[in-house]
Amino acid sequence: MTEDIDYEIDPENLPERAERTTLGPPSVVVDDLHITYRVFGARRGGTTQNKKSLWDKMISVGRPDTGPITQVPAVRGISFVAHHGESIGILGTNGSGKSTLLRAVAGLLPPTSGRVFTSAEPELLGVNAAMLPRLTGERNIVIGGLALGLNAKDVKANVPKVADFAELGDFLYLPMSSYSSGMASRLRFAISTIRTPEILMIDEALATGDASFRKKSTARIEEIRSEAGTVFFVSHSLASIRAMCTRALWIDKGVLVADGDVDVVADAYQAYVEGRTDASSGAKLK
Ligand SMILES: Nc1ncnc2c1ncn2[C@@H]1O[C@H](COP(=O)(O)OP(=O)(O)OP(=O)(O)O)[C@@H](O)[C@H]1O
Ligand SMILES: [Mg+2]
Repeated sequence: MTEDIDYEIDPENLPERAERTTLGPPSVVVDDLHITYRVFGARRGGTTQNKKSLWDKMISVGRPDTGPITQVPAVRGISFVAHHGESIGILGTNGSGKSTLLRAVAGLLPPTSGRVFTSAEPELLGVNAAMLPRLTGERNIVIGGLALGLNAKDVKANVPKVADFAELGDFLYLPMSSYSSGMASRLRFAISTIRTPEILMIDEALATGDASFRKKSTARIEEIRSEAGTVFFVSHSLASIRAMCTRALWIDKGVLVADGDVDVVADAYQAYVEGRTDASSGAKLK
């Protein structure tokens, strides 16, 4: 699936840079967040705990033995405050903890320790957002709209608007399994932004769209931000992060190494991925 993703973006297809506006009140507060996944049944490698703790023994009494438990510390002590009217890019190499952080802020993963406060329920738009492939695009719009809390009448009224934004044409009445990955990602984006969310989180979800859709979706993101929403944007395309965000967080191995103006952080990250510096250069930016 990932091989379909085209991270190269023609700079001409990017919108004007996100405008710096005065910031509103805090929308997301993350306080010393730690997320550790517990993987059951691992056989070797990693940070396998070969000896079970007393607690593990107690909770697994009577259950079949799942083998040793591996702990994967994906987020390690991240703290930041996001404000209304900010769009924040999240940078980091594969496996650095970006998706885990977004899922925790969206309330989909409980913190192992630390706290997350949000001013509204965040809307997480990800590559794996739930869609039912055997149902038509139209049915998915209805289900998605209801899941967002719209009533049946509003959902019905929104179907043509969403289908139009996603430019599905006659595919609207075909099962989603017949869609290309770009078409599915357009529909996902269109559904998630039926209502203007107060906090929108986008995890790589726009990478498969073509240039014209990228233009449209970035314009919609800018509209959400200008209506004093907060947008989090994970992408491996530095060009889109620079164009769409005002601030960036750089995460390396679960640790927040830099938090600041998008250009400063993106420059430092670029130097790191090109091998010119190491991740500790980010720490100096904080
Ligand atoms: N469900 C899971 N169970 C166990 N470990 C996981 C799980 N999901 C992610 N991890 C691990 O947590 C760490 C962070 O993963 P995460 O998906 O948050 O990274 P990412 O920065 O989003 O990476 P990518 O750029 O590849 O999307 C990785 O070491 C990964 O192996
Ligand atoms: Mg990810």
